[in-house]
Amino acid sequence: MRHFITLDDVSVAELERIMELAEQIKVECRAGVRKPYLAGKTIAMIFEKQSLRTRVSFEAGMTHLGGSSMFLGDDVGFGKRESTKDFGNVLSAMVDAIVFRAKKHESVVELARHCTCPVINALTDKAHPCQALADMMTVKERLGSLKGRKIAWVGDANNVAASFVQIGVKLGVEVVLATPKQHQFDRATVEQITSADPNYVLQQLTDPFEAVQGADAIYTDVWASMGQEAEETQRKIDFANYQVNAKLMAAAKKGCIFLHCLPAKRGVEVTDEVMDSPQSAIVQQAENRMHAQKGLLVWLLP
Ligand code: CP
Ligand code: NVA
Repeated sequence: MRHFITLDDVSVAELERIMELAEQIKVECRAGVRKPYLAGKTIAMIFEKQSLRTRVSFEAGMTHLGGSSMFLGDDVGFGKRESTKDFGNVLSAMVDAIVFRAKKHESVVELARHCTCPVINALTDKAHPCQALADMMTVKERLGSLKGRKIAWVGDANNVAASFVQIGVKLGVEVVLATPKQHQFDRATVEQITSADPNYVLQQLTDPFEAVQGADAIYTDVWASMGQEAEETQRKIDFANYQVNAKLMAAAKKGCIFLHCLPAKRGVEVTDEVMDSPQSAIVQQAENRMHAQKGLLVWLLP
């Protein structure tokens, strides 16, 4: 059974195939052609945290592909009415894939253990692999190529950053981080997210201006992720020098693009000026969630 829980679950060739499918389906979609690649298929979605992009992109995507999706709210009693084993056994007997956004990464791993259909990670505290697919698709569209590109991640070394580094290692994109020392990835995480290339040296810098030197793109995310609300005040202090603003953008390579997985806190980790600039790829990046996940679903579902 193939799952998509982290980028570890796909080889480089498989990843390239998923992205190729995504690009092809996007071209078709843009031309008004919606081929029923997944006619009769259905996915179930469980969200333990809020979502706009992930939820809507999977739902709209499945409809475009001729399939259907169901959003399972609190009333199914996941984690409350019965064991994860029974829940997973039953649900996976009726649907073709399960999309799960969980507070704890281990919950997705645990559910997948009991499912006879693919489980797709829709974000956990550790990873956001669907986001990474859309991110690289966007970078390729904007810059024309991926290999040899340098992207500076400025801000928290979080779930989105982890998957972005991981996909970068696989696709030959150098990701340099600028993060306050106490918020950097620990050694075990670095080993895990760079494991596809044992020679990869992940640069974790503390100076954003150093990190963006020669960068083709600057990527940031919120300083306090969902579940870290209690740390928000302290994090605003810790990350005060890490805002992506016009000055930082100007220190990168000419034509450098701006990325953000969204939702953003405007005026905190990024200024309005950068968010709304021609260099900003944020809306394209969000739209590409749908195209990228279509590629993933078509690849994953037989
Ligand atoms: N980027 C992202 O996953 O957005 P949502 O939380 O709205 O799904
Ligand atoms: N790092 C953010 C990403 C949201 C899409 C969070 O986990 O809340």
